[in-house]
Amino acid sequence: MKRKHFLKSVIGASAFLGIPFNSFSSDRTSVQELIDNTQKDVDGSMFGFADSPIKKVRVGIIGLGNRGNTLLEMFQYLVENNHAEIVALSDITEKKVNSASEKLAVWQKKKAKLYYKSQNDWKQLCLRDDIDLVIIATPWDLHTPMAVYAMENGKHVGSEVPVASSIEDCWSLIQTAERTKKHCMMMENCNYNEEELWALNMIQEGVFGDITHTEGAYLHDLRALLLHDTYYEGQWRLHEHVERDGNFYTTHGLGPISFYLNIGRGDTFSHLTSMSSRELNLSIAAKQAGHPIQNYKCGDMNNTMIRTEKGKTILLQFDVHTGRPYSRINKIVGTKAVHVGYPSRLYIEGEKPEYWGHNWLKKKEHNEYRSKYQHPIISKLKTVSQGFKQGHGGMDFVMIYRLVRCLNLGLPLDINLYDSILWSSITPLSELSVATNSQSIKIPDFTAGTWKKENPLEIMREI
Ligand SMILES: NC(=O)c1ccc[n+]([C@@H]2O[C@H](COP(=O)([O-])OP(=O)(O)OC[C@H]3O[C@@H](n4cnc5c(N)ncnc54)[C@H](O)[C@@H]3O)[C@@H](O)[C@H]2O)c1
Repeated sequence: MKRKHFLKSVIGASAFLGIPFNSFSSDRTSVQELIDNTQKDVDGSMFGFADSPIKKVRVGIIGLGNRGNTLLEMFQYLVENNHAEIVALSDITEKKVNSASEKLAVWQKKKAKLYYKSQNDWKQLCLRDDIDLVIIATPWDLHTPMAVYAMENGKHVGSEVPVASSIEDCWSLIQTAERTKKHCMMMENCNYNEEELWALNMIQEGVFGDITHTEGAYLHDLRALLLHDTYYEGQWRLHEHVERDGNFYTTHGLGPISFYLNIGRGDTFSHLTSMSSRELNLSIAAKQAGHPIQNYKCGDMNNTMIRTEKGKTILLQFDVHTGRPYSRINKIVGTKAVHVGYPSRLYIEGEKPEYWGHNWLKKKEHNEYRSKYQHPIISKLKTVSQGFKQGHGGMDFVMIYRLVRCLNLGLPLDINLYDSILWSSITPLSELSVATNSQSIKIPDFTAGTWKKENPLEIMREI
């Protein structure tokens, strides 16, 4: 039953419909069978979807912890320029909504309506008829139910990462968005970071030639925050590490990589295999801190490897237990150039074999590439954003600006429904692979084949 409980939590209860319990117990193919069994009718109709222009986007924010507060701050420019208005705020903690409301009052005259009376008060926010966009910044397991409910009640959704926790969540979000014709964007801010946009621009301009391999990651020592009494509400994030093992935070690395590789626009993920190391660092830290929970299932380092239909490979790492400098790796290997981040290094292939080398570009040449290929969005928004809070070095501002302005102008969003789902699905799929001796798992096609069509990236469009 423990195994069934695990499979249910990762794939979803619907996976078991029509399949007798004893047919999947330890059989290697049965996990795939269960994943395939969740398949729902979807039509890919939200690809390129644009709603009518919304002159002023009216926003409700659910979850006003660390992230919700940063996201709120990103709206100041948009509110002051009449592109957006914050209509309502919700959290389960009265203190948090009050403090967010005070922050908002500094730059928005109209007060926001506050919802904090119960675990389900956020539903009242979604039911309002004067909200266009619901922003979700709550613990992971709430993202899908909140997004589905918001769309069902006529709202576009911008959800924090990841938007889905199980394969069933993925299908239910797609079906809901396709039926209600509402945007459901996972707000992956790293896709808007200056270095990633610069690399993307170079790829689009042919600097890398054809890409063969990429690496991305979330390597971030979170031990102190995970074990902190109050940093994450109810220590929700630490609890994720107790019973689960896999790649929990895929999208900071995988989002930018997916844009590099035109995923969903001519290529897609084919299959993955995932392996976790043993766990040591978090439990050592927990013991030192005298924390009551000292055993964790999540290994210190997860390595997930993905191959695309067109034969490109991705190594995606996840480690929030080990003390070390932060990195998302940001490695791109192409036939003409190679990039590695943290710190950024660029290799450009010489035209003749005698110029093939082993050295990164020198600082001066690197800087020349940096300014020549700066992404047009960054060039534009550096001036626009002056004097406003930036969030993570500027990428949060750019993300919220693009989301709201696309809605103002009635344009498709940069990160669409299918991107959001595919990048999120890698977490539950990695857990399934880890639990089955790194079994190769076929990644579902959530797009009804729409990915086969070569399409330009919306993020390359200037607005
Ligand atoms: N993209 C980024 O750079 C980034 C950075 C940090 C966090 N995040 C993401 O943001 C999300 C929130 O993380 P956080 O660090 O802000 O955590 P947090 O614990 O600080 O905030 C979560 C908030 O949700 C509230 N909440 C819980 N249940 C609720 C309910 N039923 N109704 C309304 N509110 C409810 C909590 O009270 C809390 O204030 C997570 O998905 C996390 O992965 C993203």
